[in-house]
Amino acid sequence: MRKERRLLGRALRFVTEHFSLYFTIVGWMLYSCTPTTSPSSSQSRSPSSAQASGRQTFQTSTFYTKEMNPSPTGYGGGVPYDKLERYPQLKLLYSGSGFAKEYREDRSHTFAWEDLVHSMRVTEKTPGSCISCKTSGIEKIFNQEGWGYATRKMPHYVTMGLGSIGCTNCHDPKTYQLRVVQPGFKDAMAGRGIDLSKASTQDMKSYVCAQCHSEYYFEPGTNRVIHPWAKGLDASSMYAYYETKPRGFDSDYTHPKSRTPLLKAQHPDFEEYSAGIHAAARISCADCHMPKQIQGDRRVTSHAIGSPLNTIEASCLWCHKGKTKEWMITRVRYIQDSVAELSIACMDALVQAHEAIAAGESRGVAIEVLERARNQLRQAQWLWDYTASANSMGFHDGVGSLRNLARALELSLKVPKMVTP
Ligand code: HEC
Ligand code: HEC
Ligand code: HEC
Ligand code: HEC
Repeated sequence: MRKERRLLGRALRFVTEHFSLYFTIVGWMLYSCTPTTSPSSSQSRSPSSAQASGRQTFQTSTFYTKEMNPSPTGYGGGVPYDKLERYPQLKLLYSGSGFAKEYREDRSHTFAWEDLVHSMRVTEKTPGSCISCKTSGIEKIFNQEGWGYATRKMPHYVTMGLGSIGCTNCHDPKTYQLRVVQPGFKDAMAGRGIDLSKASTQDMKSYVCAQCHSEYYFEPGTNRVIHPWAKGLDASSMYAYYETKPRGFDSDYTHPKSRTPLLKAQHPDFEEYSAGIHAAARISCADCHMPKQIQGDRRVTSHAIGSPLNTIEASCLWCHKGKTKEWMITRVRYIQDSVAELSIACMDALVQAHEAIAAGESRGVAIEVLERARNQLRQAQWLWDYTASANSMGFHDGVGSLRNLARALELSLKVPKMVTP
């Protein structure tokens, strides 16, 4: 009993010391105080600092970051501005998909569940697989139902009153080792021959994020979450994979004007990052997005996950020594502005391509010609959307983003000529 009280005290002290600055913790829950076994691998993935290294077994079911800071470059930050208003071309490009109804900049993890539930893209028919990346409830539900959870419909889960993303999405609740729970990601990594149980801490500091911040589709019939990585992680390899119509999957939506079957990229942050210079230097997502901070005499990991441009000293300058905040912002802005400029040029060209195909069809252009043009537009829009749907406006891989956008621009500019006699 005394032991239990000591653990409880330690857990409470940890939560208040560690998180009070960032979170107001709502409804956290202590559910087991039995001693647990030590981390299994010798290469320990358990939390580093002393207060967490023991055997505490607490779990916080849900927590809230209240801050909503815009990014100094104006692209990211936790303010959910309306993307359809900022880039009016999106309404036409996403026409026929839910994203034409509502598309906002993302905000922090603590809002993930309510944003899903309130999203105008979610309807009675929205499959349960959407909960995979929005709630800490996913582990328990998957353990009970297996992939059956994916075929249920969203209203079922809305009435269950699940919480948002929480500790157990990234930590084993007993050992506090980093781990992933999203079942589709586990399958995909096994498919790539990567044994997650042997992954290093440094890799896990990206994998815990990659389980949700990556491209996927739902398998027709079962709604299983599939990551399209069988041919590689870059935009062109994923496109080549999608062209095999994997598991009968053809497209996410058909554009009502040009009648082109389109793929909708979904936040490929992990893929984009993987091709970039920081991944090549083995720097993890958490190294930038969860910087170490000094609190009293302790060095702790910030869990206020947001734009690193609001924490440049802690996120960047420990590596980029001798640089100033302003210097870093200028470099990031240079990459992001270049990517944004080319992305807007792509959007304009894509809009014209959709319109040209629609006009060609009404003029009676031959079906084979239209089909070739649609195919080219499909590829162009995917290459553009890969960068547009990732969240860093190209920062994670500036060179790769510009390359994909340049290909998208070249392909889409040629479409009108294809359907003009
Ligand atoms: C070298 C540091 C660095 C690494 C490593 C990194 N990021 Fe980022 N990330 C950034 C910067 C800088 C931005 C741009 C933020 C802005 O525009 O305010 C960003 C933006 C983002 C955003 C959008 C943030 C917002 O405010 O809207 C997400 C989401 C994101 N990154 C996820 C990831 C994931 C997932 C990984 C790993 C797979 C990763 N990042 C790796 C630095 C990094
Ligand atoms: C369980 C799924 C999940 C995991 C795990 C996850 N994310 Fe997220 N993340 C999301 C979702 C969903 C959103 C969007 C929430 C919203 O807008 O309601 C998001 C938003 C973000 C944002 C935007 C925050 C802002 O203030 O603009 C950043 C940055 C981010 N995640 C980075 C990371 C990093 C880094 C990791 C790993 C350390 C990670 N995420 C792990 C699902 C996840
Ligand atoms: C999005 C993934 C993610 C979520 C959600 C998350 N953590 Fe972490 N946590 C990490 C990462 C990454 C580290 C750094 C591990 C390292 O550097 O070895 C970490 C480190 C820790 C540590 C070690 C001490 C430290 O400061 O480095 C503790 C304890 C901890 N987290 C507790 C929690 C608790 C409690 C919650 C829920 C309120 C939580 N974490 C939610 C990813 C996450
Ligand atoms: C753990 C170390 C580390 C951290 C943290 C880190 N970087 Fe880097 N960064 C590197 C390395 C290594 C390179 C490759 C060039 C070199 O060796 O100097 C690099 C290159 C860059 C470049 C030039 C490459 C390009 O894409 O044009 C920029 C810009 C940059 N970093 C910005 C940032 C920003 C912004 C942050 C914080 C959000 C950050 N870095 C955090 C290590 C780091």
